[in-house]
Amino acid sequence: MQALVATDIRKAFGSLEVLRGVSLRANKGDVIAIIGGSGSGKSTFLRCLNLLEVPDAGSLWLNGITLDFNRSGPAGGTTPKAKAELRRRLGMVFQSFNLWTHMSALDNIIAGPIHVLGQDRKEARAIGLDLLDRVGLADKADAFPAQLSGGQQQRVAIARALAMRPEALLFDEPTSALDPELVGEVLKVIQGLAAEGRTMILVTHEMAFARDVATHVMFFHDGRVEEEGRPDLIFSNPGSERCRSFLKKFL
Ligand SMILES: Nc1ncnc2c1ncn2[C@@H]1O[C@H](COP(=O)(O)OP(=O)(O)O)[C@@H](O)[C@H]1O
Ligand SMILES: [Mg+2]
Repeated sequence: MQALVATDIRKAFGSLEVLRGVSLRANKGDVIAIIGGSGSGKSTFLRCLNLLEVPDAGSLWLNGITLDFNRSGPAGGTTPKAKAELRRRLGMVFQSFNLWTHMSALDNIIAGPIHVLGQDRKEARAIGLDLLDRVGLADKADAFPAQLSGGQQQRVAIARALAMRPEALLFDEPTSALDPELVGEVLKVIQGLAAEGRTMILVTHEMAFARDVATHVMFFHDGRVEEEGRPDLIFSNPGSERCRSFLKKFL
């Protein structure tokens, strides 16, 4: 069953064409790993998926809603309501956590459910505490971000994304800002989500993780998908020379 489809997404910043027609199809439960060199457009693509950047062209489909960026003007295919709905239904986890520093871990998690989903505070707290437990931080509900390690902050950020009951989760290099010894605890949480059958799109440089957990790998180069396919095939025998030499750097 299809969960998220992006078709021919294009995006330029001024004269810099960053995405030159990128398409993605995620079925429910798919874990799609996006790999590629710095500047190849991975973050921009992820940001286009949840409209932190508005694509110049292309379309997005999320389980019943379509946003068509090819039609411009007031009669175009994107309404503010559809955009807000798409954003609400996708969870995003950033490299730099982006927690609210003046709020406790639990308050970070329950703010969205209370203010956006309209959950009552008691229900949101109960769900939030359960999510903290699931990411291994049951004892950190009252801690502020500054009192947490990077790995712990990122696990709070994942719990915060989950609290919004997203239909798919987007991760942009979730472990790149972490000290090496903290990477494993975050990957373990993400692996658990994959095992639960969550639909996830994951930009990562953790190649071993991508090979083990992803159902599909996309290699970006210069704003295009240069190669994609099953992880065992991409990692053992990439067809494109660029992908081959990119992967060599991680051996
Ligand atoms: N808001 C922006 N304004 C101008 N250029 C941008 C912006 N965001 C990204 N870029 C440029 O787009 C290109 C792709 O960036 P990005 O998507 O972050 O690549 P990646 O995540 O693969 O490293 C880079 O050249 C970057 O400098
Ligand atoms: Mg990036």
